[in-house]
Amino acid sequence: MGLTKGAQIRPASGRLGVLLPGMGAVATTFIAGVMNVRRKLARPIGSLTQMGTIRLGKRSDGTSPRISEFLPLAALDDLEFGGWDVFPDNAHQAAVKAGVLTRDHLDPIKDELAAIKPWPAVFEQAWVKNLHGEHVKRGASKADLALQLGDDLQRFKQERGLDRLVAIWCGSTEVYRKPAAVHATLAAFEAGLHASDPDIAPSQIYAYACLQAGVPYANGAPNLSLDTGWACELARLRGVPIAGKDFKTGQTLMKTILAPGFKARLLGLDGWYSTNILGNRDGEVLEDPESYRAKELSKLGVLEHILQPHLYPDLYKGFHHVVRIDYYPPRGDNKECWDNIDLRGWLDYPMQIKVDFLCRDSILAAPIVLDLALFLDLAQRAGLSGIQEWLSFYWKSPMTPPGLYPEHDLFIQLMKLKNTLRHLRGEELITHLGAEYYD
Ligand SMILES: NC(=O)c1ccc[n+]([C@@H]2O[C@H](COP(=O)([O-])OP(=O)(O)OC[C@H]3O[C@@H](n4cnc5c(N)ncnc54)[C@H](O)[C@@H]3O)[C@@H](O)[C@H]2O)c1
Repeated sequence: MGLTKGAQIRPASGRLGVLLPGMGAVATTFIAGVMNVRRKLARPIGSLTQMGTIRLGKRSDGTSPRISEFLPLAALDDLEFGGWDVFPDNAHQAAVKAGVLTRDHLDPIKDELAAIKPWPAVFEQAWVKNLHGEHVKRGASKADLALQLGDDLQRFKQERGLDRLVAIWCGSTEVYRKPAAVHATLAAFEAGLHASDPDIAPSQIYAYACLQAGVPYANGAPNLSLDTGWACELARLRGVPIAGKDFKTGQTLMKTILAPGFKARLLGLDGWYSTNILGNRDGEVLEDPESYRAKELSKLGVLEHILQPHLYPDLYKGFHHVVRIDYYPPRGDNKECWDNIDLRGWLDYPMQIKVDFLCRDSILAAPIVLDLALFLDLAQRAGLSGIQEWLSFYWKSPMTPPGLYPEHDLFIQLMKLKNTLRHLRGEELITHLGAEYYD
């Protein structure tokens, strides 16, 4: 459903359950982070919903409330966490294994974290070749597995006395397969679930179970969980907001910060070479060329869309864009991404920029999970459904309605996000037009 200016937004009363298919490094860093922030032991750096402000009216008005005061978002104290994994480790054990957070942040919340135990997963080895877990569901068909997931989420809701649910896929990257006939329509997909069609991936079964139950769903991996006809049809039918895909963190975040700047100043680009070394389980899964292919496709689209070579052939036609990811265990979750950028300036003189970002993957991803959970819940209470393009800000490969190209420029994405929030609250949009001196 479309955006109505000043829409009625149902209040965020009661508790919100956050469902996490995949409880590895990102999911546990998110959960443990929220628990630390709730106890005022740490700060939610990187989260727009917790730290961001939004300007209202003219610059001269001096009105810039916090986003959390401007909108009725769920409070951190009202969040409950549940999820699935192919390993039975509780969230504390999984966080220790992931090695992202130190004991300073894990010890004070140990019991609370350990109480979160994943439910058995829907999993198929063929879709994530480098993962071998036994904590999985058995079912007569893929339709039966979807029903079992639906039972899990209803039980969670009842046992915890939750009012609403939202789901964020934090599971592994599945192998890349082109969409098949089974994905084209909801009817074909449901028939495929009953026939256990091999083209239906586990991540799609989670998405189906959540959408059927009216639960907003975001896809943190490059998997094609929501991008095909059946998911958009079901989201519309059930009135559920969806968003994806692939969290925009490390290197792609840097690209969508830098490339808009080069284009704004009309600097030419000969090539952009990017490489990553990464030692966590995500890196291990991406060692499989088929899973890597999904990630590569998600990373490669960014520059093309920002630089628009069809509009600026002299500057950007045929630039070389190479992306590599190497699994290198000593680094764990502390990834290193190198970029070499070959630019061209006035009279074609060449220049180079080298970026070496020593980042922490899950530290960058966790605030995204939090914001998506709160914003998707808000979207549902505001009556929005289908693809939430205003959340493109968070994605490496933003979903768009059919026929539209995605917006990758981080700054346009942020403007779109904030203007959507203003619109929902009946505030004037900020255009930066400056027609009046104080606009
Ligand atoms: N960390 C980042 O910066 C970042 C950025 C973009 C995307 N991602 C994506 O987010 C996802 C999570 O990343 P991570 O670093 O936490 O990886 P991780 O390997 O630590 O965690 C993924 C978890 O998902 C589980 N899993 C796999 N298939 C499952 C299934 N079918 N059902 C339930 N659980 C399943 C695995 O057992 C694992 O525990 C990955 O797909 C990754 O590509 C991460």
